[in-house]
Amino acid sequence: MQTFWEDVDRHLVRYGGTFTREIIDSASGSFLFTEDGRRILDFTSGQMSAILGHSHPRIVATVQRQIANLDHLFSGMLSRPVVDLARRLAGTLPASLQKVQLLTTGAESNEAALRMAKLVTGKHEVVAFARSWHGMTAGAAAATYSAGRKGYGPVSGNFAIPVPSGDWLAQLDLAFDLIDAQSVGSLAACIVEPILSSGGILEPPLGYFTALQAKCHERGMLLIFDEAQTGLCRTGTWYAFERDGVVPDILTLSKTLGAGLPLAAVVTSAEIEAEAHARGYLFFTTHVSDPLVAAVGNTVLDVLVEDRLDERAVKLGAHLRTGLDDIAARHDLVTDVRGRGLLVGVEIGDESLHTPITRKCLELGLHMNIVQTPGMGGVFRIAPALTTTEEELELGLSILDEAIGSTSA
Ligand SMILES: Cc1ncc(COP(=O)(O)O)c(C=O)c1O
Repeated sequence: MQTFWEDVDRHLVRYGGTFTREIIDSASGSFLFTEDGRRILDFTSGQMSAILGHSHPRIVATVQRQIANLDHLFSGMLSRPVVDLARRLAGTLPASLQKVQLLTTGAESNEAALRMAKLVTGKHEVVAFARSWHGMTAGAAAATYSAGRKGYGPVSGNFAIPVPSGDWLAQLDLAFDLIDAQSVGSLAACIVEPILSSGGILEPPLGYFTALQAKCHERGMLLIFDEAQTGLCRTGTWYAFERDGVVPDILTLSKTLGAGLPLAAVVTSAEIEAEAHARGYLFFTTHVSDPLVAAVGNTVLDVLVEDRLDERAVKLGAHLRTGLDDIAARHDLVTDVRGRGLLVGVEIGDESLHTPITRKCLELGLHMNIVQTPGMGGVFRIAPALTTTEEELELGLSILDEAIGSTSA
């Protein structure tokens, strides 16, 4: 144990936040198991990704079968899992979204989407929400405003718009007036999360994305939806944008698509893909169109469909929400509960209590994640696996209740 943490201190790069002081030995379903025999309920689906829980038997079987048969290929070679997944993903989306590129991470999918948008429009400026998180590669990070901006310049041609609040239509008009004033006449794309997750589970009002899309199209910009966290049934529908009836020009999927394994996708229309191709679109990576994770993606779709996990997210989400509303009613320090389906935020206004509550939860066997949004208090992001049970939700709720109660006392 001692040597483990000494080795951590000596050899690991600290890449953000602090390391949880537990040695995780294994995981199964909704639980993590530590080396010293503790069981921890995972209320974040790993990094908001493992929507089928950990080591789902169907995923384990697929990985074992696929890796024994066909693991990885030259990037220009194709295999059935890749083409099957592209076709099946298109089948879950509006008719215009039918061209798919399979990649590895969320940042990479956004990088590809932005490169495609720049190439197709012949422009380079990018607009994103002021509390966005799109990833850590250069283009994605340039469109990320919630963290990690200071110290990594230069960044040029990127503009932020406010997350809608109050008179959001007037706010949006003003935001684009300012962008028009600053732009050098090269607006290429606007990239947004349909529900901002790292920004603190912020859901733009109905009608906002219709208005945003109009702003984009007036300027010849492409609208990119990043559904890294919200895609694949997490919020109770297959995609969060379904609520708004706004179909993006480009959609990116990642985290939930591989349900814990590194798989991402860029999806666009035949017209945009054709134009990109005509202009020499290049986004070649080591793991593009890799069969192993594509096979996992197909199994993820199988389980989501067969187990009707969209409906389950609605039902479990309502159950979770009732429990959280009850906690909020009994503890003044819970200042808001919000979200959709099984992506829920619990806001704790008093900053000094964030770490103690997180620590107490862990001590009692619950892993929670808090995002610190400047000026907005902190928000616990709760995103259990879609395969979780009502009993597991009850367990998590009771631990959270106890942690909040004992911390505020
Ligand atoms: C909405 C969103 N987009 C993109 C990313 C980046 O994904 P990755 O960390 O896989 O590069 C994240 C990661 O948190 C995210 O939440």
